[in-house]
Amino acid sequence: MAVTQLVYTSRSMCAVDDTVLAAIQEVAIRHNREHDITGILMYGGGRFIQLLEGPLDDVNALYECIERDERHTDLSIVYRTVATERYFPDWSMGVVNMAHDSLEFSVRELWKELDVDRLVDAADHSDLLIELFRAFQRHVATMPLLV
Ligand SMILES: Cc1cc2nc3c(=O)[nH]c(=O)nc-3n(C[C@H](O)[C@H](O)[C@H](O)COP(=O)(O)O)c2cc1C
Repeated sequence: MAVTQLVYTSRSMCAVDDTVLAAIQEVAIRHNREHDITGILMYGGGRFIQLLEGPLDDVNALYECIERDERHTDLSIVYRTVATERYFPDWSMGVVNMAHDSLEFSVRELWKELDVDRLVDAADHSDLLIELFRAFQRHVATMPLLV
């Protein structure tokens, strides 16, 4: 079945630590399960990157809701496609704090390479994003609460 995948970046408007991320995840898991939405939310250097994947209308409705959230600003959609498979079929919303040293090396290196400020301007950034998602698929076996 076709699944819409949307990736946006944003800038945090408050101090973001594990407690804030866990609170977002708690709400996200409950809502996303009901709407068949999966994905991953990454935070690092004052920036969020989130992948939302699911039915088109549900993804759009959730994005509109997330857009109004005052914990972040400057949202910018950097990737949108229709796919036949999800990257994270088992994660209602994996949440990863890039500040954690325990993260797999390749994941940290890819995050650095991604350079989120550049991502917003770059004409085509999908290759790096997809590489990052694949690194999570390979190295993070269970849904991360916070790695
Ligand atoms: C960076 C970020 C990512 C979020 N991701 C989700 C998500 O995946 N699913 C979700 O239901 N809420 C998510 N939220 C929370 C929503 O913005 C919103 O607070 C929540 O859906 C509750 O909305 P309501 O108060 O209108 O019911 C996220 C918030 C932020 C700041």
